[in-house]
Amino acid sequence: MGQYSIVGLPLVLLLVTFCMRRSAACVESCQCNQTGTRWTCVGDGSDDPPVFSNNITIIRFLEISQYNISALRRDHVGDNPRLVRLLLNGNEIRSIEPGAFAGTSHLLWLSLNENSLREVDAHSFADLTMLKHLTLEGNEIETIGDSTFQSLGELRRLDMSRNRIREITGRDLRPRPMHP
Ligand SMILES: *[C@@H]1O[C@H](CO)[C@@H](O)[C@H](O)[C@H]1NC(C)=O
Ligand SMILES: *[C@@H]1O[C@H](CO)[C@@H](O)[C@H](O)[C@H]1NC(C)=O
Ligand SMILES: *[C@@H]1O[C@H](CO)[C@@H](O)[C@H](O)[C@H]1NC(C)=O
Repeated sequence: MGQYSIVGLPLVLLLVTFCMRRSAACVESCQCNQTGTRWTCVGDGSDDPPVFSNNITIIRFLEISQYNISALRRDHVGDNPRLVRLLLNGNEIRSIEPGAFAGTSHLLWLSLNENSLREVDAHSFADLTMLKHLTLEGNEIETIGDSTFQSLGELRRLDMSRNRIREITGRDLRPRPMHP
């Protein structure tokens, strides 16, 4: 009996540890760290993006790269109010639907590199009022709509290299108006 419990205890601990690791909510096509706060989902270019069956509110870092997403919608990134860093690189994104980022409005970093965006406008990033870093490198952006960056009062770094921009007017990059 005594011997049984000495052998049994490590086994129970092992099983508990195993079950805890497995239970960190993660969808099949993603890799998550132990605390479930960092999710990395990388497709093979033609895969459909992962489906989040419920809103996982503890995610702080999310990468969804190399999937076939042509129009970015809110349900692609879910409702993740604690998310600070979002990478959406190499997804063939052509457009960003209004409200796509409404569930991730506390983002500080957003990367949309190597997609197929042709234009950005006032609806694209309107919800991201805390954003500090935005990179849109390697898209096909020709047009920057009026007031595109107007809601981004905290923006410190904007990278739009390797696009097709031919003209930038003062209005394009006008900062948020100063309030008295
Ligand atoms: C999980 O990822 C988050 C966000 O990147 C990080 O802050 C945290 O240290 C990671 N935790 C573990 C256990 O790896
Ligand atoms: C990506 O999805 C579109 C439909 O939304 C489809 O027409 C296209 O073939 C897909 N691309 C790849 C590489 O599978
Ligand atoms: C996440 O929650 C929002 C409301 O907070 C809801 O509209 C949305 O459908 C939910 N998404 C999923 C995938 O359950």
